[in-house]
Amino acid sequence: MKLIRNKYLCVKYIDLMTEDFKEPIPSLQVAQGSVAWQTPSNIALVKYWGKRDPQLPENPSISFTLKNCHTNTKVDFVKRTITDGEFSFDIIFEGEKKEAFKPKIQKFFERIQEYVPFVSEYHFTITSDNSFPHSSGIASSASGMSALSMCLMSIEKQLNPEISETYFYRKASFLARLGSGSACRSVKGNLVVWGAHPEIAESSDLYGVPFSEEIAPIFENYQDTILLVDKGEKQVSSTVGHQLMHGHPYAASRFSQAVENISKIKTFLKSGAIKEFIALVESEALTLHAMMMTSQPYFILMKPNTLEIINKIWAYRAENDSNICFTLDAGANVHLLYPENEKEKVHSFIETELSIHCQNNHFIHDELGYGAKEMK
Ligand code: DP6
Repeated sequence: MKLIRNKYLCVKYIDLMTEDFKEPIPSLQVAQGSVAWQTPSNIALVKYWGKRDPQLPENPSISFTLKNCHTNTKVDFVKRTITDGEFSFDIIFEGEKKEAFKPKIQKFFERIQEYVPFVSEYHFTITSDNSFPHSSGIASSASGMSALSMCLMSIEKQLNPEISETYFYRKASFLARLGSGSACRSVKGNLVVWGAHPEIAESSDLYGVPFSEEIAPIFENYQDTILLVDKGEKQVSSTVGHQLMHGHPYAASRFSQAVENISKIKTFLKSGAIKEFIALVESEALTLHAMMMTSQPYFILMKPNTLEIINKIWAYRAENDSNICFTLDAGANVHLLYPENEKEKVHSFIETELSIHCQNNHFIHDELGYGAKEMK
């Protein structure tokens, strides 16, 4: 749907289609430069699990953008003298040249080349580090792919200064999605919806959009402590897990349940119905893992300590009239979510009761954040 003649200059109500991101970029001559962005990780409340080509979600999802778990990426670029359509880049991760990361970036560049043709015209030096330990089990693909996508959009902006802010952020999210689905929810804050939903204005399968409704005060500055139960490599990657939703016996009902859950969580977030919010978020987490346990082949990513923690959360909530709850991503770690007004008590509960179930007693305190930040 094209509502306007010049989409670059439009700031509102644009419904961008894949073709719109392919517009030839009126290239100014930029010989070299340097751009840098910091982007956070995110944690889904209603989960994305199941996708189709090209990296489109089978159902809409909504996430909290985090603040402290983030990736910093700097891209130095210099015009290549040859134009052979190949990609030329180096990756320096946490101070070391990383050949092992190259195939993933090569594949990402191949996927996005038709939208950012300049990727083959420059040599890139990509320097990146995470605020959280690499082997913590925290997915670095969301923050990593979104940071790189923001850098590429900053380069596009230098080549075409005309692009609007809306187009800039939507295309950054669009590119990030092609790197890793959930990465498209890391560009903005503080809640982001990815996937077309009839009750979410401007929502799209192509990119994430900020949840634009007002949220009740209890959800402001919401806290998330990540309990690092298992820092090892997962036996089954998310990408493989998504594929197993094809032909899954419960796929159709799961996808329509997620659509309904987005409608429900929207009203809970607005009204402050925290008990209903908790029930929905925990059910989403367990449904995600139930999908894994009922796929063919089946698998389990939770560990005994994941269940120890969940049981302690339930007991604490009942005994203390508390509003803590948990969610899980595709791994054994537990995200403990709670309102800011319980912070002090919950921190001491974590230290005395929960940290013993974490690998090396390791956990990370985080909270709602506001998305990508340009680094000068
Ligand atoms: C369980 O975004 O990591 O965290 O698109 O294959 O890169 P790819 O998968 P990824 O999947 C994340 C799945 C999840 C739920 C979610 O974040 O919504």
